[in-house]
Amino acid sequence: MMTGSNPLGHGQIVKADSYAVDEAAAVLRGGGIVAVPTETVYGLAADATNADAVAAIYRTKGRPDFNPLIVHVPDHAAAERLARFDDLAAMLSVRYWPGPLTLVLPLQPTAPVARAVTAGLRTIALRCPAHPVMQLLLRESGLFLAAPSANRSGGISPTRAEHVATSFGEATPLVLDAGPCSAGLESTIVAVRDGGWQYLRPGPISAKEIEAFLGQPPAPVTDAKIEAPGQLASHYAPTKPVRLDAVTPTPDEWHIGFGAIAGDENLSIDEDLAAAAARLFDTLYRADSSDRKAIAVAPIPNEGIGIAINDRLIRAAA
Ligand code: TXA
Ligand code: MG
Repeated sequence: MMTGSNPLGHGQIVKADSYAVDEAAAVLRGGGIVAVPTETVYGLAADATNADAVAAIYRTKGRPDFNPLIVHVPDHAAAERLARFDDLAAMLSVRYWPGPLTLVLPLQPTAPVARAVTAGLRTIALRCPAHPVMQLLLRESGLFLAAPSANRSGGISPTRAEHVATSFGEATPLVLDAGPCSAGLESTIVAVRDGGWQYLRPGPISAKEIEAFLGQPPAPVTDAKIEAPGQLASHYAPTKPVRLDAVTPTPDEWHIGFGAIAGDENLSIDEDLAAAAARLFDTLYRADSSDRKAIAVAPIPNEGIGIAINDRLIRAAA
């Protein structure tokens, strides 16, 4: 396995031990891309200051260039080099970082990030992830890491290292394998501006919870396409058709159950929505590779993290 000065590379899935994290940091410092675990989903990471490295992310994903990337930082101090925090933004970072919250904030004019990262917007999306491997990688590399989910654009987000290889095939980069992601859905995205906040992408932290914490309701999102360009109608899509709110499947359908609706596979027999969220994408990958022609999904309660689950399912079915 060890050849030359760069023993780990392209197409390899390696256990995320300290040796592998060192190697990944070297690949990233050299302008390469690496698939990395976070507590939400696996990300496809590159040095956010390096335009060529960022271009490689867009190319590998087949991502449209108008869809900006999230930049991952080790802590709040690093984040302040990239964006301006008002009081509300600072409150959110103190309460929820490290964790599954992305903040869209005014870009610091001096922020050393490649233009393609923000797709030319005057805002930047920042996240401080809690996953110990990602934290270690951020600190070891000393880099700001741009990282979208590690799947081909429009496909199912990866919650296991194997999903990354399923999605990218031959184009799979080095993958740091830290097992399944605990949250299993992408981070909640909140934009903070003009003394208010907007809930741009439902995620592990619900709008209700943020509203209770801030004591202030969200401002309406007027044009979702511009506010979070990645929130396209069709996204997270398996290659097969998906039917929602399905209590009884047809013989052609792989049935994903919930609670008392058993299904071929059940997201959570005890109706635990956090457990269902953690299993959702893994279950969709399996359903997509089953021998049935289509996928049917049982109704999921639209409360708490169920709102984020249904957001992903609606896009998967679009
Ligand atoms: O949990 C996550 O957030 C994962 C892990 C890897 O951190 N990342 C992730 O990235 O989900 P991605 O690229 O799949 O989704 C990023 C979303 C897109 O919908 C994008 O449009 C939005 O963030 N976004 C990025 N910058 C933005 C900005 N300045 N304004 C509004 N939306 C932005
Ligand atoms: Mg994505």
